[in-house]
Amino acid sequence: MSAIPRRLLSDTTGVGPDGMLTVGGCSVADVAAEYGTPVFVYDEAHLRARCREAVAAFGHERVIYATKAFLCRAMARLAYDEGLLLDVASGGELHVAMSAGVPASACTLHGNNKSMAELRQAIVAGVRHIIVDSFDELDRLEVLAAESVGPTPDVVLRITPGVHAHTHEFIATGQDDSKFGFNLGNGDAMRAVDRARRSNSVNLVGVHCHIGSNVFEASSFAKAAEVMADFAVPLDLPELVLGGGLGVAYVEGEEAPTIQQWGNVLLDACDALGVRSRVSVEPGRAIVAAAAMTIYTVGTVKHIPGVRTYVSVDGGMSDNPRPVLYGSGYESFLPRAVDVERELTVRLVGKHCESGDVLSFEAKLPDDLVVGDLLAMPVTGAYGHSMGSNYNKITRPPVVFCADGDARLVVRRETFDDLLATDLFDD
Ligand code: LLP
Repeated sequence: MSAIPRRLLSDTTGVGPDGMLTVGGCSVADVAAEYGTPVFVYDEAHLRARCREAVAAFGHERVIYATKAFLCRAMARLAYDEGLLLDVASGGELHVAMSAGVPASACTLHGNNKSMAELRQAIVAGVRHIIVDSFDELDRLEVLAAESVGPTPDVVLRITPGVHAHTHEFIATGQDDSKFGFNLGNGDAMRAVDRARRSNSVNLVGVHCHIGSNVFEASSFAKAAEVMADFAVPLDLPELVLGGGLGVAYVEGEEAPTIQQWGNVLLDACDALGVRSRVSVEPGRAIVAAAAMTIYTVGTVKHIPGVRTYVSVDGGMSDNPRPVLYGSGYESFLPRAVDVERELTVRLVGKHCESGDVLSFEAKLPDDLVVGDLLAMPVTGAYGHSMGSNYNKITRPPVVFCADGDARLVVRRETFDDLLATDLFDD
């Protein structure tokens, strides 16, 4: 039994004179009182520090923030202002990024099944690169070129390098058996390069790979970089994009490489193989995951003698589906008792109408926990808000950025009227 390891908390977390957890100089209790719970509380200085660390490791315009991890206009703008480019994976993500004032020329468009409309939108807007994923997409780009919708796009080809990353199978993407990209092993990658080079519909500027997400082994990244470097060097194209995927520590005992260490591994591998292209990366999780925690309120405590104790909070799989989807682990603690030993082991669950709605199978919490307590779950900044849903018509939580004693609401809580916004029932 132990207190929450402070290293899992974001950079500016502290404890106020009243013993309450603070983030960016703001009392978490005050944020909860003002905006309600559940609420995503982001440490703005932490977000900026990770962006700066990435730019220091890879260079200006060589870090492309993967917006799928967490996107709202404040985040798009923060990343752009810190010198990052933005990776968008849909027309919707491009729209949100551009609505924040990020120019299309700072955005790269991903997707294994981009629609005609999305490709048209990207070309008209003038995105920096389209990361082409399939021969069908090349067909579509030829149709659009014939229609002269805009300037000839600069494209990067997504290559599947045949490298297996050690992560959950749903988020591993570099192996041959994948829906993504052109396979290196069977010659598709080279065929795609030849076709793109001959085509007047696209300008081929580089190649790309992404082996998977939440990867902890530096050796998997080194392997992918070597395979890609081998492929890219003879092509002599200006861009080599090595994807995202750097893992983060979610629970006690986990240890992930830092962004700087990740940079050293990738850039050393590229240098050793004589890569002359600009090497860039697309981190998502490593920038945002540890920057946020979700604050919930404990609503019920059900003790079943001889079985277990269930603690229910006022959110669940609609604000964090990762435990259900990937079996992901999270820690939890009470913001009023940050450094207190957590002696109770409970099953921490949400308020949705199914038994699978679990946030933590074996949550450790202090034994004086009571209904009405605020409960914090750290490292929820990536793929929580962005994968949230309205299941059970639960309204999605707000997002608050805390810095220098100021708690700034950047996404408000959804209202019941928002639940009707797209519903055309006419009585
Ligand atoms: N680049 C590409 C082409 C990607 O597909 C992804 C993530 C990234 C970059 C960013 O990866 P990151 O640095 O965040 O690991 N929902 C899952 C993660 C899915 C990742 C999809 N692609 C989760 O919650 O773990």
